[in-house]
Amino acid sequence: MGGRAPRPLPTDRVHRGDCLELLRRIPDGTVHLAFADPPFNIGYDYDTYDDRRPADDYLAWSCRWLAEIVRVLRADGTFWLAIGDEYAAELKVIATRDLGLTCRSWVVWYYTFGVNCRQKFSRSHAHIFHLVRDPKRFTFNTESIRVPSARELVYGDRRADPAGRLPDDTWILRPQDLPEGFAADGDTWYFPRVCGTFKERGGWHGCQMPEQLLGRIIRASSNPGDLVLDPFAGSGTTLAVAKKLGRSFVGMEMSAAYVAQIRKRLAASRTGQALDGAPEPLKSVPTTAAGRRLARTADKATDVRKRRTGRRGKPDRQKLLVPRSRAD
Ligand SMILES: C[S@@+](CC[C@H](N)C(=O)[O-])C[C@H]1O[C@@H](n2cnc3c(N)ncnc32)[C@H](O)[C@@H]1O
Repeated sequence: MGGRAPRPLPTDRVHRGDCLELLRRIPDGTVHLAFADPPFNIGYDYDTYDDRRPADDYLAWSCRWLAEIVRVLRADGTFWLAIGDEYAAELKVIATRDLGLTCRSWVVWYYTFGVNCRQKFSRSHAHIFHLVRDPKRFTFNTESIRVPSARELVYGDRRADPAGRLPDDTWILRPQDLPEGFAADGDTWYFPRVCGTFKERGGWHGCQMPEQLLGRIIRASSNPGDLVLDPFAGSGTTLAVAKKLGRSFVGMEMSAAYVAQIRKRLAASRTGQALDGAPEPLKSVPTTAAGRRLARTADKATDVRKRRTGRRGKPDRQKLLVPRSRAD
């Protein structure tokens, strides 16, 4: 005889607690879209969570919460998983081979303002897997995530489709560095990390994802009124964006301090409100003739750095976000 079914979790709010416990309170097959940005097990300093676990523990735990995500997804549901280099391959295998999801795209999110490394290349990307339960039946709203094409932006070609094209599967965040490096219809996505000087940055959670990144995911993979789940809410970006875009949502976060901040953020977010950050970084970043830095601009930047630091070229570290990767 089974026990009493747990009380279902109320939606449109964040719940404090362990997501493994809380997920049990979501009925089978009810979530349209889940987004998870779990701890990467790289020793990041969270409020309460210990991000340095033996690899086997971390993977066993990941299997458990991933299985819960699959259970709560609708038959036509979608799951986006953000993960670092260390466990990307393992988690993808668990999600696809063990749990039966289909990977539609392996998106690489290219960002700048990563931790500066001295003995290796500085990390400037995270992996985001687009996974679905049924490869023949899932929501993918192409018209709501189109971006301007290179034809339009770089070549001024009149043949450019004014409606734009689908983003590549590498998403980039500082396109002004690479005006011709990333076509707008691929799998490299560009959005800036939410760095220290950005108005968007809350300043109390080092892993805050940009609203525009979640905007693309939520617009593409859900419709207004659908239920969006984030079991690792962090700073609450997924929930705030879901609310602004008119989706229903449910968030989980183990840290009481983060939950208190998320509640404030949600209270300040309204349905229909614009997302923070530049909707089209390629168009809105300041650029120069021919997409290159002019000598005068470069000199001016060096002068400003010299004034700030008293030394040539050393960046003002106070102003930089400390992102989630270790500096080596
Ligand atoms: C990488 S952060 C998420 C950042 C989020 N995507 C954002 O944009 O702010 C991961 C979060 O998961 C939380 N966390 C870790 N283990 C958890 C668990 N078992 N249940 C709920 N939250 C957990 C941590 O406290 C941390 O805030």
